[in-house]
Amino acid sequence: MVTAAGRWRELQEQRGIPPEIVARAPESPWKHDPKHFGAPEQAHDTPSRDAALAVLDGAGGAVLDVGCGGGSASLAVAGSADLLVGVDHNPGMLEVFSADCTARGVTFRTVLGEWPAVAGEAGSADAVLCHHVGYNTVDFPPFLLALTEAARRGVVMELTARHPMAWLDPLWLRFHGLRRAEPATADDAVAVLVELGITPTVVRWRRPARLPEDPEWVARRLCLPPQRVGEVAAALAEIPPRARDTVTLSW
Ligand SMILES: C[S@@+](CC[C@H](N)C(=O)[O-])C[C@H]1O[C@@H](n2cnc3c(N)ncnc32)[C@H](O)[C@@H]1O
Repeated sequence: MVTAAGRWRELQEQRGIPPEIVARAPESPWKHDPKHFGAPEQAHDTPSRDAALAVLDGAGGAVLDVGCGGGSASLAVAGSADLLVGVDHNPGMLEVFSADCTARGVTFRTVLGEWPAVAGEAGSADAVLCHHVGYNTVDFPPFLLALTEAARRGVVMELTARHPMAWLDPLWLRFHGLRRAEPATADDAVAVLVELGITPTVVRWRRPARLPEDPEWVARRLCLPPQRVGEVAAALAEIPPRARDTVTLSW
């Protein structure tokens, strides 16, 4: 019988980009520009923010933001916390996070490295937040257990309802003739938690629509050269926009 953790691993491994396509890519398809991950000045009122505030419960405390990027998750509750700890394996993200905390007068600390390997350095916190990182993992149980062990009061995880790149699957077929495997979903993530003996509270919601997708970013993601950006823009106009269905898990 396939376990939930095994199914997660299989789904995630199948979504890798074939090495022969990556080898022809003019630029890394996984490159993230930290500038695009800055936290909004005014925090969005979301079920994930509500869940984090409920964990903090007006008592203050430390917030650990795993895969913090620019810190959208933790900066949204900074007014109710005494310390933010940002963990990320991308130093550029930690620079954006640090600059924003400094500008807002928020007490913070950063930990550079891969979760869960750096869990010891990050230490424990009252609330542990982890937004839009889950689908980056293949070996999910140690990742989830380390979040749980780090939390003195609770964990809040935000995920898209399906793998965040699944909306590009029709373009992989169009440009590379590549039929993508089934994507992992938030239900698969819940099944892994349940298998670990954790029953999360699940809130499903929809994020507001975003600006049109940047064809240059999509071309890079599809391992295509800049000369094909025009074709990508035309193809983007023919597929459904990126889904905004989002899930907040808390435990
Ligand atoms: C999609 S971004 C989300 C950033 C932020 N949490 C947000 O919601 O805006 C994912 C972030 O997680 C980081 N990341 C992914 N896997 C990680 C891991 N195992 N350990 C540390 N950082 C990780 C990436 O560098 C990136 O900054």
